[in-house]
Amino acid sequence: MTTTFTAVAHPNIALIKYWGKSDEELILPASPSFSMTLDAYPTTTTVRLDATAAEDSLSLDGRAAGAGQRARVSAFLDLVRQRAGRRERVVVESRNTVPTGAGLASSAAGFAALAGAASAAFGLDLDLEELSRLARRGSGSASRSVHPGFALWRTGDDAGSYAEGLDAGDLDAALVIVVLNDAAKAVSSRVAMRATAETSPFYSAWLQASNDDLDQMLAAFEARDLDGMGQVAERNALRMHASMLGAVPPIRYLGADSFTVLDAVAALRAEGLTAYATMDAGPNVKVLCPAGQASRIAEALARVVPAASIITAGMGPGVRVYSGE
Ligand code: DP6
Repeated sequence: MTTTFTAVAHPNIALIKYWGKSDEELILPASPSFSMTLDAYPTTTTVRLDATAAEDSLSLDGRAAGAGQRARVSAFLDLVRQRAGRRERVVVESRNTVPTGAGLASSAAGFAALAGAASAAFGLDLDLEELSRLARRGSGSASRSVHPGFALWRTGDDAGSYAEGLDAGDLDAALVIVVLNDAAKAVSSRVAMRATAETSPFYSAWLQASNDDLDQMLAAFEARDLDGMGQVAERNALRMHASMLGAVPPIRYLGADSFTVLDAVAALRAEGLTAYATMDAGPNVKVLCPAGQASRIAEALARVVPAASIITAGMGPGVRVYSGE
């Protein structure tokens, strides 16, 4: 009888972005970030310990993963083994419904699920704070996907930097996700944020502005003021992209279609809707809005970018772990 541990996690979209590290090895963020976990695009990861295998194995969507992905997962599993004081290798099978590498936070759901499943398999009984800290070591944004709804990931040292869940109360929020291009991005966010920090003269201004944005975001969130949250989120995303445009060579994830959607979102606001855009390390645009306006917004955007695929996501659950045989 072999025991397996399965974890399900969802991506999160940052409304205040994480862009840059103070420590690359520990994955400590240079500024705090704030996100919403989605109820769409789950990643399901099953792990099984194998005491006789010489190395870890990893399959992604039923196919053996490449050497780079395997090395990254093995390095993460080393942290779990170290913490548990154990040596078994791990068989990992992951199914990821997010278009991988398309700036839709696939690594967030992936490492949150892996942290949940692997820590359970090695008998570590982690609370959400510890699980967030562990997931962070796989991918920074994964620290936030541990939590349902909204999360705040603070700066700090290894012990102090983890995401905490925030009570959204009766906040009514949805994200209309406009997938303009689901091909893998040319430059990973890990490489791009390093290049921005090292070469963009706008980077220090980004950090300052993003810290200020966070204060305003938290005030709007406390007031359940979705319009205020959206204003700050859109501005924060544009500021992050502006910092990248200043890198040498410049990093540009947004395409002409992204700006077409941004204009359409502004036009929807002019019609009285609450709709604000945010963009990550890819051209896709996510539109923050009240759930009740989502279908109208999705329909309007489908007319503007007919080739896009558009889905609406609400607030999703945190990581969940199951054991089986
Ligand atoms: C633009 O978490 O993928 O989505 O920590 O290097 O794995 P690493 O980076 P990652 O970066 C996410 C960047 C972002 C903004 C965000 O999610 O906060």
